[in-house]
Amino acid sequence: MKHYALIPAAGSGTRMGGMIEKQYLDLNGVPMIAHAMMVLARQPRVERIFVVLSPADKRWNNFEWQGWEDRIEVLRCGGRTRAETVLNGLDAIAGICAPDDWVLVHDAARPCMPDDMLAKLLDEIASDPVGGLLAMPVADTLKRAVAGTSGGARAETTVPRAGLWQAQTPQMFRHGMLSRALRAAGSDMTDEASAIEQLGLQPRLVESDSRNLKVTWPQDLALAGMILKTMHE
Ligand code: CTP
Ligand code: MG
Repeated sequence: MKHYALIPAAGSGTRMGGMIEKQYLDLNGVPMIAHAMMVLARQPRVERIFVVLSPADKRWNNFEWQGWEDRIEVLRCGGRTRAETVLNGLDAIAGICAPDDWVLVHDAARPCMPDDMLAKLLDEIASDPVGGLLAMPVADTLKRAVAGTSGGARAETTVPRAGLWQAQTPQMFRHGMLSRALRAAGSDMTDEASAIEQLGLQPRLVESDSRNLKVTWPQDLALAGMILKTMHE
């Protein structure tokens, strides 16, 4: 069974609030997406990396991608939602991937995944019939806010955190199963794992940690920069 990586990178990064799609923001000297690509490219078990861009993307070609030609393939078939982007990407590579090959879907906006975390995911999922994802147990106490109050949020109740995990990426499933799951998924699906869950299957949770953060808000970018510096110094 081969392993392929698929990086959905067709989002617009609205929560970052800037003009540039966040995957192209400078992070320690290279566009953020390059960090996600580098971790996957350093892992010898990953055969090839597919990057799914929006058909309207004008920025990819502004960067130098010399040296990457053998490892990556750019697909310009991103959709309106992340799920649509992933499914379009899976359809585009259906002639390359066998139904039983693994596809690791990894956010362009997760630049700090350590190499050993990726290796652990590959090791733990290798013989799993379903597949799985990196995730971390929720550490903080969780509050549910009162709905619809004005003048600032107020806590109504404390939600027990026992058994709750935060989903990250990569999310690793077989090409055939994931395509089928995404096509069948209802509108309440969020990540790939949730589509698999809707089939009645139980994705494996492989424990990761907070270094594998997703850059979502402007303040996350500086944090990612610091994590990368400590990892590579
Ligand atoms: N993504 C995608 N296609 C979409 C939406 C998102 O490929 N239509 C990708 C993003 O580029 C990112 C990953 O999915 O790599 C995670 O999504 P998110 O963090 O939500 O990124 P954005 O959608 O770009 O950000 P925002 O939700 O703040 O607009
Ligand atoms: Mg989004």
